[in-house]
Amino acid sequence: MDNNLIKTVNKLQDAFSTVGVHNPVDLPQITVIGSQSSGKSSVLENIVGRDFLPRGSGIVTRRPLVLQLINRPAAPKPNGTAADDDKSDATSNLTGGDNQDEWGEFLHLPGQKFYKFEEIREEIVRDTELKTGKNLGISPQPINLRIFSPNVLTLTMVDLPGLTKVPVGDQPKDIEKQIRDMLLKYITKPNAIILAVTAANQDLANSDGLKLAREVDPEGLRTIGVLTKIDLMDEGTDVIDILAGRVIPLRLGYVPVVNRGQRDIDSKKMINKALEAEHQFFENHPSYKSKANYCGTPFLARKLNMILMHHIRTNLPEIKSKIQAALLKYQQELLQLGDPLGDGKGGQANLVLNIITEFCTEFRTIIDGNSNDLSS
Ligand code: GDP
Ligand code: NA
Ligand code: MG
Repeated sequence: MDNNLIKTVNKLQDAFSTVGVHNPVDLPQITVIGSQSSGKSSVLENIVGRDFLPRGSGIVTRRPLVLQLINRPAAPKPNGTAADDDKSDATSNLTGGDNQDEWGEFLHLPGQKFYKFEEIREEIVRDTELKTGKNLGISPQPINLRIFSPNVLTLTMVDLPGLTKVPVGDQPKDIEKQIRDMLLKYITKPNAIILAVTAANQDLANSDGLKLAREVDPEGLRTIGVLTKIDLMDEGTDVIDILAGRVIPLRLGYVPVVNRGQRDIDSKKMINKALEAEHQFFENHPSYKSKANYCGTPFLARKLNMILMHHIRTNLPEIKSKIQAALLKYQQELLQLGDPLGDGKGGQANLVLNIITEFCTEFRTIIDGNSNDLSS
């Protein structure tokens, strides 16, 4: 995700942790919904920029995966190879190279750190099978995974099973309702941003994801349409009418993307190669080349950043009053203690409050600057 946003939010969080206020920037949860195999897991994975989610034809995602991304600055490197290190930091996100600054931890395996993202995927598959059996069963019991990295924004993403109608294998007779209920639990939260994923080689009017999104977000204030499999459309057809809002208009619009196909998965095509191929696809396609800037995963990520910025901006007053309340409590406690050290800690608290107030003003400027960049 966009580095400016990561830096800005970190600065804010650092300032707040100075006064002992926990996680003041409660960012929205990003959830994906849509039909089975529409490409939900692929989209999430491309946004995060690492290979770690089970993907494939059929029902692969069979339990919710609650993915908490946690920004954690890279540990300072020993003796002066700074130039090389900078380079590896900047690219590690896309080359998929494993390093000591990025790892995953599962709630069900406390204390165990996964530095190899391939092993994270294996563990997701293993624990899915443990709780649901191997015969395509589903379960609402989430898998909780945290990823610590200098290259992510501290926020939560949720990968969900796809909507399906006909039970197969060990699936219950009412699988359609069970999955719907499971998804509703996540997308009903007003704090959820819904990525409604539809394969472009399917009729948009029949999009299960869009239909469900509309039930909880009728105004379309927090739903983004994501159109996958653009590369699989019949020659001579395109999604231009959908993008222009002439089919089912969505306030936040649609983003067309090209993820890795099944053959790419089987041949373990790297994520950076996939993103480059996506870029080439839109740049060279007669229907999209004039608007390639509004197509593909990087544009989807920018759109998400814009929404997150907007969220932070509207919540700044609340964040600030939380801090003020915490400081007031702190000052009163000191007063009650009669300031026994006599070193004017109350005065210090005021000083911190002033710094934060200043920071909020500065932060607003940064956000405004950024959202101007992004709104184009
Ligand atoms: P999910 O079930 O919605 O999570 O979908 P997955 O991400 O697991 O993908 C399902 C299948 O569709 C996999 O075989 C993917 O390779 C394939 N797929 C997903 N997105 C695209 C795309 O944009 N283009 C192509 N060609 N295949 C895709
Ligand atoms: Na699938
Ligand atoms: Mg999936």
